[in-house]
Amino acid sequence: MRKVKSDRYSYIESLSEPEDKTKEKARNHSQQIGLDAISLSVVEARLIQFQLQSVSAKKVVEIGTLTGLSASYILEALPQDGKLWTIEKSPQHAELAEDVLDTEIKAGRCQIVVDDAQKALEGLSAEGPFDAVFIDGNKAAYLNYFEWALKNTKVGGVIIADNVFLAGSVWGDMSAQKFSEKQISVLNQMNRMAFQNKSLSSVIIPTEEGMLVCKKLS
Ligand SMILES: C[S@@+](CC[C@H](N)C(=O)[O-])C[C@H]1O[C@@H](n2cnc3c(N)ncnc32)[C@H](O)[C@@H]1O
Repeated sequence: MRKVKSDRYSYIESLSEPEDKTKEKARNHSQQIGLDAISLSVVEARLIQFQLQSVSAKKVVEIGTLTGLSASYILEALPQDGKLWTIEKSPQHAELAEDVLDTEIKAGRCQIVVDDAQKALEGLSAEGPFDAVFIDGNKAAYLNYFEWALKNTKVGGVIIADNVFLAGSVWGDMSAQKFSEKQISVLNQMNRMAFQNKSLSSVIIPTEEGMLVCKKLS
């Protein structure tokens, strides 16, 4: 959940069903480690579910599991025979996510890959192509993740990336948070690449954080 929740977010949230026990657990775990502010908000999570459902996604890759909150939303949007591969480099985060996603892991619908995402993605190519890739990991590596997603997403599938505004840094507002020059440059390159690539239909949904959504057309 983001630290500052706007009235718009609160209003949309008030229309949504309350989060179930699994999602509550994921939020509690991330609160315990002081990282609840970096989990998706309900509004963002539902936007992702909507995108996945609109392309009837079955096979999805997520980069950045944290404690499994977004994974839980993604799994809810997949059919029973769908599968999510979610990548997390921190063994501590992965262990908490394993607790949250236990039932789905046992059912074979979810696999947590504990590794640096760039390394993990190389291995995951063999499981592809995928219907969707959700990017929410190391900001400095977003361009690499995006290039991997371009190659490994099916035509008709979607690539989604969160935090593409970097708290305004991408348009030069440095007041909110400090991001490195590399992170800002990488995010700007990825956003431009997404909009210029003729094989994609790309939009940035102006959520608080900025959510890039690209549909692969050819
Ligand atoms: C913003 S959080 C993900 C939040 C999660 N998607 C959610 O909404 O519940 C980013 C996660 O990416 C992980 N991460 C950072 N760098 C990574 C890397 N190089 N490879 C894999 N995971 C990474 C972090 O440990 C952290 O758990």
